[in-house]
Formats: sequence, C-alpha cells, structure tokens
Amino acid sequence: MIPQGFINEIQTRTDIVELISAYIPLKRSGRNFKAICPFHGEKTPSFMVSPQKQIFHCFGCGEGGGIIQFLMMHEKVSFVEAVEILAKRQGLNIPYERSDKDKIKPRLYEAVSEAMQFFQNCLLKEEAAKPVLKYLKERGIAEKTIAQFHIGYACTSNLLLGHMRKKGFSLQALEKASLVISQRSGFKDLFRERIVFPIFDIRSRPIGFGGRIWKNISGVPKYINSLENPLYSKRNQLFGLNFAKDDIIKNDAVIVVEGYLDMIIPFMRGTRNIVASSGTALTVEQIKYIRRYTSNVILVFDSDKAGEMATMRTLDLLLENELKIKVAKLPLGFDPDSFVRKKGNEAFSKALSEAQDFFDYKMGVLKKIYDVESIEGKTKIAKELLGSLQKLKSEIEKHEYIKKLSQALKVKEEILIAELRKINSTPGTRNWQPPQQLGKREPLSLTEKTLLKFMVSNQGARALIKKNVKEEDFISDLARKTFSYLSLNIERLSNRPQELLTMIEDKEISRFISSVLMDDNIPLEKEFLKGALLKMRQRRIKVFKNRLKEEIRQAEQIGDRQKLKVLISEYGKIKSEAGNG
Ligand code: CTP
Ligand code: MN
Repeated sequence: MIPQGFINEIQTRTDIVELISAYIPLKRSGRNFKAICPFHGEKTPSFMVSPQKQIFHCFGCGEGGGIIQFLMMHEKVSFVEAVEILAKRQGLNIPYERSDKDKIKPRLYEAVSEAMQFFQNCLLKEEAAKPVLKYLKERGIAEKTIAQFHIGYACTSNLLLGHMRKKGFSLQALEKASLVISQRSGFKDLFRERIVFPIFDIRSRPIGFGGRIWKNISGVPKYINSLENPLYSKRNQLFGLNFAKDDIIKNDAVIVVEGYLDMIIPFMRGTRNIVASSGTALTVEQIKYIRRYTSNVILVFDSDKAGEMATMRTLDLLLENELKIKVAKLPLGFDPDSFVRKKGNEAFSKALSEAQDFFDYKMGVLKKIYDVESIEGKTKIAKELLGSLQKLKSEIEKHEYIKKLSQALKVKEEILIAELRKINSTPGTRNWQPPQQLGKREPLSLTEKTLLKFMVSNQGARALIKKNVKEEDFISDLARKTFSYLSLNIERLSNRPQELLTMIEDKEISRFISSVLMDDNIPLEKEFLKGALLKMRQRRIKVFKNRLKEEIRQAEQIGDRQKLKVLISEYGKIKSEAGNG
C-alpha cells in the first residue's frame, strides 16, 4: 500500500538518535548511544542506538530494529501508522498506491455508516420496532447502551435497499459492503427483522454488522454476520476493541469473551477492558492485535463442553504467541452477559480475579476426562500438558510447570523432561533444551553469527557463503532459520541495516539480525569471514567423520566386511582432505 521507496526515504530522512531521544534520554557510549530500555524493566542500560547503522537493539530483551519498529513498539501503533507519524514529522504526504480493492473502500465505509444510521433510526422511531425495544430492555439494554454501541433494527425486507438506492449507492457497492445479497429473485437485504450490532474497526468506523433474531423462529440461525468483504473479515476482528482499547492498556490486561452481548453488558456495567471473539476460537490475527496492547489475557468462555473445547484450543495458540493466560470460570449455565445481569459487576470482577493459571485450568479439565491415578491417565494428561509447555518460550517458566506437573502426576521431573524432549524431536516442533542445561547452554557461536552478519551486510560475501555453507551446518536453531530465510530472500532485501530490518516480516529473525548487526565483536573484515568459513568446513567434516566412525563400528559388529572396506576407504579420503583439522 505504501511504496517501498517512500518507506526507505522516510527512514533516510529521520535520524534515529534524534527520534529516540525525543522519547527517552540517550547517553553517548563510544560509537553508540545507550539508554535504559523502554521495552522491559532494567536498572543498567542495555538498550543501544547506532547512529552509523541507524538501528537500535536491546541486549537485555532482544528488541531491535529501525525508527519504524521503535515507534510501533513505543506508541503501540501499526506499521502503517508508524510511517504516517514519521511522514507527518517530515511534512510529507504518503503516496499511497491504491489497489482496485482499495479504491472502492471509501464508498463502502460510507455505505456501512449510512446503513448503521438507518438501522438505528428504525429501532428508535418505527412502530414495528416497539416490541424489539422491549426485548432489548428485558435483556438489560436501554437507551444509553443503544446510543453507545449504535445498536439498530433491520425492520422488514428491502427497506434498507430502497433507502440506500435513494441515497445514490450502487447495487454493486451495496453487495460489496455485504448489506444486500443477490438472489435468483434479485437483490435483497441481508439483515431482515434482526437486531443489528454494528462492528467497528479500531478507529471506530463501522465496517459490518452482527444481526440477531429477537423472537424464536425455528430453523433460522440466531445470528448472521456480514459476509467477508474488503472492510470486514471475521478473523481479523475483535468485537469491542475500539471501545476497550484504552482500558486494556490502562489495566495491562484484556478479558476475552465469546458473544456480542457478553462484551456489551459487562462493559456498560464497568468492566471496560473487554472484547469478544464473536463465537470462534481466537485466531492468530486476533491474537496479534491483542499483543499490541497487552500480553495478559483472561479468557471467559462458556463453561459448557463446547466452551471448554474452544478454550483448550485457544490456549496453545496464545502460549505460542507469548501471552500470559488465565481462564476465569463462571457457574454452569452462565455466560458473562447473564452473569453480570443476575449477579452484578462486582461478582464478575471477583470471578475474574479468581481466574486460574492456564496450567491449572487445563489440568482441571483433563482430570475430569482421565483418571489421574491410572497409568493411562497419567500418560494422557502428561502428553496434553507437555504439548502446551513446549510452546512456552521461557525455559524458567517451563521448568516451573514441569515441577508442578511432576507433583500432580507423581511422576519424576526427569521423566517428564525426557518426554518433553521426545515431543520436541518430532518434526514440526521446536527444539528445547532441558532446564538443567539452562546455565551451561552453549551461546550462539561466533562463527555462525559472523557468517550471518556478512550475509546481510556485504553483497560479495553473500554468494560465497551461500555456495560454501549449508543450512544443516548451523547448530543453533535460530541461526539455521535465519540462514534459510536469508538464502531465499536475500535478493530482494536491502543491505542497509535499517531498511533490511524493516523488510523482514519474521520478528524473531529481525531481532536476531539486529543483535548481530549491533554486535561490535564481529568486525566486517575479510579475515573474519575466511576464518568463519573454514570453521564451518571443519565442523562439517568432523560431523561426517563421526558419522562414518559410527557406521564403521556397526559394520564391524555385524561383520559386514564389504561395507567395512568401503567405509574405511571413505574415511581415509576425508582424513586426507581435511588435513589435520
Ligand atoms: N455467533 C455467530 N453466528 C451464530 C451463532 C453465534 O456469529 N450462528 C457468534 C456471535 O458473535 C455470538 C457468539 O457467537 O455473540 C456467541 O454465540 P452464543 O453463545 O450462541 O450466543 P450469545 O452470545 O450467548 O447470544 P445471546 O446472549 O444473544 O443469546
Ligand atoms: Mn448470551
């Protein structure tokens, strides 16, 4: 949407030292500037800013990047919003490139907005809506709530269609905005005789609706929602976030519920840091949205079976995205809406404050399903919970939970750790070092870091490295992942540090590269590159030699003389090729 050239230009024009020192005090320290990191709690400064490279990196928490990443994190804004802020500072207008899909968007916003007003008018003014108002009132929704959430009513068939046509909206635009649907008999209102809850984007623009029936008609779904369209996509939307955003930041926590009314009713009664997932398990997109505001999530899902399953599914995804999760339980048969109406907001707050840690919650659910005293039960429970623990990024946390699990199952910690390692070694999962090795864990080798630093900084070195080094040569997972990413993408990436970091989509990789770039123990001198390449070669040969040795040992054991001969000759070749190395 924003041309890459403009993003580069804005980064060139803004000095990172000047920008960051407008937010936090910077102190000179050799070639760089130092500060107390604004992104994690610390007493001695490990946040570095390089005026030469125009990047920052914190050696404490690992955050790093250029001015755009700094603003995104410090101002809690999106990429585009960060660029907007920087453009404004420079007095520049962003030359947005509009795709066809975007060109129609302003018209669609107008359409949804107009529809919202129309629906609200119907609810408040139409005779036919009187019983609907009464229904809403019975559900605890009176004028104030209707006004704040712009709740409306879609009276009868095709009233909206007629109104919008009179206002000059084309059928095509109305269909695109998911206000009408085309049927064999022609175009028809999507929402008919339904209460409509507008869905707002983060900037409080209405982008779609959830429509609820207000009297039971069999065979008709309770809710229908706007269909996916250029403005609204269910995966990306958290209902109520625009209202709750400030309070989520203030409380550094978000309460996630399922339904529209589960959000609205508690919000109106005073629990304001609340959003609704709209009836599905949370999606990755929604989780990423949450992470912009807080890393503490309290889930309140229905305590029925389906709700429990939705919660269980959501847990691992949240853990994987480094969020701290608790689960609040309401008495059976209640959802947040009915609970707050019957028991009051105080009681709701109390239930929230008693929310269980994800581990205890999951254990509770599993204990209901399996017998914790039986061997089979222990195995099943351990497998489930270890699957979740494996998602945790912090080794310390992992170990703490292993301890808990060990106590709960009466199984030794070592055994659980061994099981966890088994899960990790199955393909598709991350490797994990057992907690005993915490202190001793081998630091990322200088060789691997050197190669990667050259790869991103020096065009000539790239080809050389790509030719001589293979993905398998890297021992560290992160270095290997970074190498494989760079090998595939290097041609389209800039070799200017800040531009490079801005282009890399994977946060883990960009943080890692910013640390390598900022590391002054890795000079960009030819000798270092040569040394690193040689080391990698030696390492590969050593691995190969060991593998051969093992094969020779096996061949000896089973007495396979033919194979032995081949292996020994191969071994000899390798040895002479490697010299003494
Ligand atoms: N939902 C949906 N489509 C459906 C049913 C549900 O999109 N056919 C979403 C809605 O966002 C709804 C949420 O899932 O708010 C939770 O559904 P449910 O628990 O069935 O309803 P409640 O929210 O309890 O609705 P109400 O209190 O109005 O009965
Ligand atoms: Mn409900």
